[in-house]
Amino acid sequence: MSYNLAIIPGDGIGPEQIEATLIVLDALQEKLGLKFKYSFLEAGDNCFKKYGIALPEETIKAIEKADATLKGPVGETAAEVIVKLRQLLDLYANLRPAKSYPYIPSLKPNIDLLIVRENTECLYKGFEYRINEGVAIGIRIITKKASLRIAQYAFKEASKRKLKVTAVHKSNVLKATCGLFAEACREISKKYPNIKYEEMYVDAAAMELIRSPEKFDVIVTTNMFGDILSDEAAQIVGGLGLAPSANIGFDKALFEPVHGAAFDIAGKNIANPTSMILSTKMMLEWLYEKNNDEKCLEGAKIIEKALILAFEKGYTTMDLGGKLSTKEMGLKIASIIKEIS
Ligand code: IPM
Ligand code: MN
Repeated sequence: MSYNLAIIPGDGIGPEQIEATLIVLDALQEKLGLKFKYSFLEAGDNCFKKYGIALPEETIKAIEKADATLKGPVGETAAEVIVKLRQLLDLYANLRPAKSYPYIPSLKPNIDLLIVRENTECLYKGFEYRINEGVAIGIRIITKKASLRIAQYAFKEASKRKLKVTAVHKSNVLKATCGLFAEACREISKKYPNIKYEEMYVDAAAMELIRSPEKFDVIVTTNMFGDILSDEAAQIVGGLGLAPSANIGFDKALFEPVHGAAFDIAGKNIANPTSMILSTKMMLEWLYEKNNDEKCLEGAKIIEKALILAFEKGYTTMDLGGKLSTKEMGLKIASIIKEIS
């Protein structure tokens, strides 16, 4: 099959990461006979400087038409781009895996968890007001509908994994909002008697992620808590340079690193492209599930295998103690892909 991919290079290290990632994707196309057509789109700080708008209408339209979107990180205008896209396209499930890889420093060797973050509401709805000089308020929206569908997504993922869901909230204090979220998770848990279900307050979950990260399988949580816990989870398995994510809706999906634009290291060709390459792996898995295209699943597996082989030989970027540049890392993975069977 052939796929139209919308590509948003973004700001900071984004364009460098995208360049390295497309080298990998080109190698996969050649190996598996997969076909990808790329459309490059603008969004973010650079786009705002050029046109006075961070997320132009053309970009939104092209994303809507594409089979999937790969997005690099965006700088100061990130909220105007990614939060808007998540809500506009109803990309309600934000999947953020944290998995320990061999040869990569990790808090423990056997971590394999998935954060399923609600992606459309909570404090991210933007209902924030400065009342006067000394007072500001923010309104947290939690709905039954969004809570049920994200809980459903989490249980579906857990049924393919280690059969455990931990709902993370703070219903002892946020009685109405987190109370409703917890209620929805409990309701869905009843449909899955074979999946172990537990609940944890977000403060305790933040601690447990450090103490016993290997005990988690799927964590389902609200938007703001998921944002915070996913950076923490990334750090326990080697840092943000490796952390991918998927924003999934009913028939659209956008894939991007968990981290930001990292302006301090931008333009130096030293950023780790792995977060973007693993986001591409997630895209291939999603394309497989959507279209039943076995080649996409094979591609996802090859990406992971090639990465592990690279790590094994010490081929990494500076953040992980290696010597490769961003582009060299892409070229290395691509050459491993060409060699492996
Ligand atoms: C993330 C980011 C975004 C978020 C920002 C850039 C708006 O931190 O994807 O985790 O808060 O969701
Ligand atoms: Mn974040």
